[in-house]
Amino acid sequence: MKPTPQVKHEIRTEAGKRRTFAIISHPDAGKTTLTEKLLLYSGMIRTAGMVGARKNRKLATSDWMEMEQERGISITASAMQFPYKQAVINVLDTPGHQDFCEDTYRTLTAADSAIMVIDAAKGVETQTRKLFEVCRLRRIPVLTFINKMDLPGRAPLDLMAEVEDVLGVHASPINWPIGSGRDFFGVVNRETRQVLLYTRTAARGAAKPELTELALDDPSLKSRVPDYAWEELTHDLELLEFAGNPFSREAFQNGKVTPVFFGSALTNFGVETFFDAFVELAPSAHGRLADTPDGRELMIDPVDTPFSAYVFKLQANMNPRHRDSTAFLRVCSGRFERDVVVRHHRTKTEVRLSRPHSMVAKERNTLDVAYPGDVIGIINPGVFQIGDTISVADGFNYKPLPQFQPEVFARVRPTVTTMRKSFDKGIEQLAREGTIQILRSPDGLEFFVAAVGRLQFDVLKFRMQSEYRVKVVVDMLPYESSAWLVGDVEMFKPPSDALVVKDSQDRTVVLFRSAWSKNFARERNPQHDFKDMA
Ligand code: G4P
Repeated sequence: MKPTPQVKHEIRTEAGKRRTFAIISHPDAGKTTLTEKLLLYSGMIRTAGMVGARKNRKLATSDWMEMEQERGISITASAMQFPYKQAVINVLDTPGHQDFCEDTYRTLTAADSAIMVIDAAKGVETQTRKLFEVCRLRRIPVLTFINKMDLPGRAPLDLMAEVEDVLGVHASPINWPIGSGRDFFGVVNRETRQVLLYTRTAARGAAKPELTELALDDPSLKSRVPDYAWEELTHDLELLEFAGNPFSREAFQNGKVTPVFFGSALTNFGVETFFDAFVELAPSAHGRLADTPDGRELMIDPVDTPFSAYVFKLQANMNPRHRDSTAFLRVCSGRFERDVVVRHHRTKTEVRLSRPHSMVAKERNTLDVAYPGDVIGIINPGVFQIGDTISVADGFNYKPLPQFQPEVFARVRPTVTTMRKSFDKGIEQLAREGTIQILRSPDGLEFFVAAVGRLQFDVLKFRMQSEYRVKVVVDMLPYESSAWLVGDVEMFKPPSDALVVKDSQDRTVVLFRSAWSKNFARERNPQHDFKDMA
C-alpha cells in the first residue's frame, strides 16, 4: 500500500514544483489583470488585454468566466494549471465580489500561499483585510504586490506602514519602485541592488515591455530618471536600510512577514520579477492536519501517505457543453491515478474516481495523474459534499471547512407552479454548492433561502433561469440574522417579529429582524438557547 521509494521520489519532485495559491484583493485592485499576466508570462496566451473590455461584471461568479468569454479560451474553472518556468502553477479562482467571500474563504483552505494585490492609490481595503485575516488564521503565507504604480498613488513608505498597522504583519520590501505615476520607471532589488528599467511598449501591456537591467551604482542610471525620483529613491533606500524589516523565509512561511513587491500589472512593469520571486519563495504542498476516528490529530505527510484529497468546491453546469456537477478536490498526499478506487469517509463507501480532469488555459483536460497541491475536477454523481475526505488509506478525515453565518434572507418561488420539479432540483443543487441555504416553513409549503450576500440572490435568479429554465421570484425578507434553536420547539415563544423555519436537516431555525429581537427572545425563553449557523 505504501508508495515505493521510486514513486516517493517522483511525488516529492512533482509536489516540489507545485505552487498552489489564491489571489486576495479588494475588487478592482488588479487581480484579474495580474492573473492574465501570469498566463502571458507563462506562454499560455500570446497577448493580454481583455480586462478593460469588461464593464458589466456584476453577475459573474468567476472573473475567469469573463476572461473566457472575452478571449474565447476555456478557463472556466476553480483552478487553472499551467507550467511557469520550472514550476507548475495551480492558481485558484477567488471571485472578486464581496458577496462571494465565503466561496473565497473555502477556496483559501486549498491554497498553500496567497498573493495579496493592493491598489497603490487605495492602500489596504476592507475585503483585503478580511481575506488577509483568513490567511493569518490558517497560517497561509502571503506575498504582497502593490499594483497600479503607473498611476498617481500614495508614497511607498506610507503603504508599507499601512500594511503593518492595518494587517499587523511585518512588511519587508524585496524591491522598491523608481518613480511613480507617469514617471514609474522600474524597480530596484534591495538585496542584489539590480535595477530593472522598463519602457512602455504595447498598449495596455499586451506584450512584454522592453527591459534594461543595470546595477544601482551604474553611473548612467542617474541621468535616466528625473532628479526628484532619484532623490526619493536614495532617501527611501537609506531609510529602509536603517529601519526596514529584514526578510526571512522562515518568518514568511510562518506568516510573520510579507515580502512586498511594487509594479503595474497593466503595463507589466515589475510583473515578471514578482512571479519569479513568487515561485522561488512560495511553499509547495506541506503536511495537513486531519482527525482520526478516535479523536486524535494527525499530520498527513504529502509524500509518505498514499493518495488523499478533500472536496473544497462543488459547481454545477459550468460549461453548457458539459451539463453536470463537478466536485473540486485538492490533492493533499500521494499520487492520484485515474480510476483509482478510494474510500469516501462520510458515507463509508468506495468510489471510483473516473473521468477526472484538470483545467488548463485551453481546455478541460483529462487527467491521468496528479500530485499534492493539484486540483482535480471529478464529475460528481451526487456523492460528494463540500468538506468530504477521500483517500486510499483509511483512518483520517481532513479538518472540516469553515461555514458562514447567513445575513440575508428571501422567499423564493417559481413564477409558474408547473415548474416546481425543476425549481426544487435547481435550488437543491445551488444549496449543495454551499452558496445558499434552503429553509422551509414548518408545514413545508413555503421556501426561503439564506445567503451571506445579496448578490447571491441575483445569481440564484440568473442560474435558475439559464440552467434550469425556471423563472423565480425573490422577495427579500426583513431578517438580518438567524440561529438554530436549542430546546423544545413546542415550548418556544418567538418574538412577534421573528420567523420560525426548518433547515434542510429538519433543525429548527429562528430568523430575527434585529439583535434586539434576538435578545428579547433569549430573555423570554430562558430554557432555550440559540446556536450560530456558522
Ligand atoms: P480585479 O480583478 O481585482 O477586480 O481588478 P481588474 O484586474 O479587473 O482591474 C480593475 C481595473 O484596474 C481595470 O480597469 C484594469 O485595467 C485596471 N488595472 C489593473 N491593474 C492596473 C495597473 O497596474 N495600472 C492601471 N493603470 N490600471 C490597472 P477597468 O476599469 O476594467 O477598465 P479600464 O479602465 O482599464 O478600461
